[in-house]
Amino acid sequence: MYYPHDFHRLEGELACEGVPLRRIAQAVGTPVYVYSHKTLVDHLRKLQQAFAALRPLICFSVKANGSLAILRLLVGHGAGLDIVSGGELYKALRVGCPPSRIVYASVGKTAAEIRAALRAGIFCFNVESAEELEAIHGAARRLRTVARVALRVNPNVRAHTHRYITTGVKDSKFGIDPATVQGLLRRHGRLSGVRIIGLHLHIGSQISEAAPFVRAIDRVAVLYGDGRRAGAPLEWLNLGGGLGIIYKDERPQTPQAFAAAVVPRIQRLRTRLILEPGRFIVGNAGVLVTEVLYVKSSRGKQFAVVDAGMNDLIRPALYSAYHEVMPVGRVREAANGRATYDVVGPVCESADVLATGRRLGRLGSGELLAVLGAGAYGSTMASNYNGRLRAAEVLVRGRHWAVIRARDTLKDLVRHDRLPARLIE
Ligand code: LLP
Repeated sequence: MYYPHDFHRLEGELACEGVPLRRIAQAVGTPVYVYSHKTLVDHLRKLQQAFAALRPLICFSVKANGSLAILRLLVGHGAGLDIVSGGELYKALRVGCPPSRIVYASVGKTAAEIRAALRAGIFCFNVESAEELEAIHGAARRLRTVARVALRVNPNVRAHTHRYITTGVKDSKFGIDPATVQGLLRRHGRLSGVRIIGLHLHIGSQISEAAPFVRAIDRVAVLYGDGRRAGAPLEWLNLGGGLGIIYKDERPQTPQAFAAAVVPRIQRLRTRLILEPGRFIVGNAGVLVTEVLYVKSSRGKQFAVVDAGMNDLIRPALYSAYHEVMPVGRVREAANGRATYDVVGPVCESADVLATGRRLGRLGSGELLAVLGAGAYGSTMASNYNGRLRAAEVLVRGRHWAVIRARDTLKDLVRHDRLPARLIE
């Protein structure tokens, strides 16, 4: 069985660092997300070290995990933040991230979001269209400032990953085609409200090899030459996120191997580097702990019905994603030795299946299960669907732990509802 990083067995019981998951579940209830401080910091360090030669700016992608405690701890260890909305800007500023370490990507930045980011003085906008460039220019002029921007290039490179998380192909909504980028670089001085300081690439997520990144860099290299000849001050390359992790049997490249493949190319471009890792830092730093409510057999199939559902972790339902599941306690031998379970949630949707055909020993109600690799795109994609309360979140550091997000209360569910009497009575 695969144990990510700092999750392991302590006297037979699954623990996060020095804290048994059962203890946390008993204290705060289930479902609960549990994160390891050590894993988070280790993963950030690995990237910082692998790319040290380029003095990179590593901006953690807030969309992967937006918990303030996690953001603050990563910022405290030198990370910047990659944001995609005014909401994430607010969070970034709330945790004290220096604006000089904030980069902002999104195909649909609103005028209000652009203004807020300009007022905050963020480091760079990753621009996704010629029109957006004009909008940022206009807003910057009105605020009497100059915005630093990187043009997001769509390099038309296929990264072998799920189609919902492939972003660098030509029919995707992301980025600007190279010919248009070339035109914008040639006319770079025309818009006095923006300074084009580099190019941005993000070709997809959960990519396990360096080759597509290398192809993408090779495709933008010519744009650097061209842009500089036209006088554009191109000092940065933002390579986006996308580094894959192990969920099952993937063999992703190590940060060192990745760096070995791309660093020489970036040195040849003579640029500094920005990375926007999300999953690599937090994916295997978190598990979702859930309790078995019922075990039922139906036509020869066994189901473990658990108290976490697709509203808590949507990845299996949305992407057919595989997440390892393991009992938190000792695995009990099943009578016939081969029992397999589908682990299903309580949500009224056939897609609410966390895992299928897993050998988990003999399960009974009250048993705790851990869903691994749930740190990235778990809690951030959670919802209140089916009137379900969003799970609590806990951070562990050594033998200490604390709640970093309280479980929703029933009041939270109706907090923003209004009952306008004239319309409904
Ligand atoms: N930068 C940009 C511009 C992005 O769009 C993304 C992710 C990242 C960085 C971070 O990528 P990472 O290092 O985490 O791969 N919900 C999906 C993943 C969506 C990724 C969206 N963009 C999932 O659960 O697999």
